[in-house]
Amino acid sequence: MLTVTAPATSANLGSGFDVFGVAFDRPLDVVRVERAAETTIEVSGVGSQYIPEEPERNTAGVVAAELDTPARIIIDKGVRPASGLGSSAASAAAAAVGLSELYETDHTREDLVRIAAEGEKAVSGSAHADNVAPSILGGFTVVRENGVESVDATVPLVACLPETVVSTREARRVLPERVDLGDMSKNVGNAATLTIGMHRDDPELIGQGMAESVVTPARAALIDGYEEAVDAATAAGATGVTVSGAGPALLAVTHSGDQRAVGASMLDAFEDQGIEARTFSTMIGSGAKIH
Ligand code: HSE
Repeated sequence: MLTVTAPATSANLGSGFDVFGVAFDRPLDVVRVERAAETTIEVSGVGSQYIPEEPERNTAGVVAAELDTPARIIIDKGVRPASGLGSSAASAAAAAVGLSELYETDHTREDLVRIAAEGEKAVSGSAHADNVAPSILGGFTVVRENGVESVDATVPLVACLPETVVSTREARRVLPERVDLGDMSKNVGNAATLTIGMHRDDPELIGQGMAESVVTPARAALIDGYEEAVDAATAAGATGVTVSGAGPALLAVTHSGDQRAVGASMLDAFEDQGIEARTFSTMIGSGAKIH
C-alpha cells in the first residue's frame, strides 16, 4: 500500500476570501491507497463517524473517479471535520497525490489541485480550491479562476478550534451579496500587504493584511467567544487573528516566541465563556507527502 499524508490548511486569511490559503505542519490526514477493481473507502480517526464511506459522497472517492484510478482507500483522519481547517480537503489532497502516484499518471501537482477541488465540490456543493491548493502544494497559495500560485514562507501560526459547530452552508448564507466600493479598495490594499508579508516572512505585515470588514464580521457572529478570543490573542502578541475558512476555528499569526502565550490566551478566553477548545501551534508547512 502507498501511504500519503496531507496537512490541515487555513483558507481566506481574512482579506483573501476564496483566494488565499496556507498549509500547516499538523494536524494531518494519513491516507493509504492500493489498486482495486472498484473504489472502496474506510475511515477512522477524529470525527470519522460523520464522514460518509460511499465513494460518491467522500471527497477521496470522487477524486478516484475523476482520475479513473479505482482503489481501496483507507483514511485516518487527523483533521476534524467541520472545523474550518480543511478537513475534507486534506483527504481529497492526499487521495489525489497518492492515486496519481499509484497509477503513475503524468498529472502535475497543479492539475491535482483542480482534480481535488472537484472532489470537494461534488461533496459539499460550494467548495473552492483554497484549501486543497495548500494541502497539495504547501506554503502560501493564491487561487484564481484559471490558476494557482504558491510560495514557501516561514511564519508561525496558532489555530484555535472551539468545540462548537458552524455549518459551511450557514457560514456562506450569512455573507452579504454586495460589497461597498470603499471596502473593496481597502481589501485590495490589505490582501496585497499580506502577500508582501509572506514574501518577507514578516508577521507584522501579514497580521495587518489580514484585516477584512465584509466576510469576517458576518462569520464572527456565528462563533461564540470570538471577540474575546481575538482580544486575548492580540494582547498576548498575535499580529493578526481571523476566522479560519468558514470557522469555527480561528487563525492567529504571531512571532515564534509568542506562539505558546497566544494559544494559551485563546484557550483561556474560550474557557471563560464555558467553551472547550484546543490549539495547534504550527509553522506554514509543506504539502502532501508520499511516504
Ligand atoms: N473559502 C471557503 C469559505 C473555505 O470561506 O467559505 C471553506 O470552504
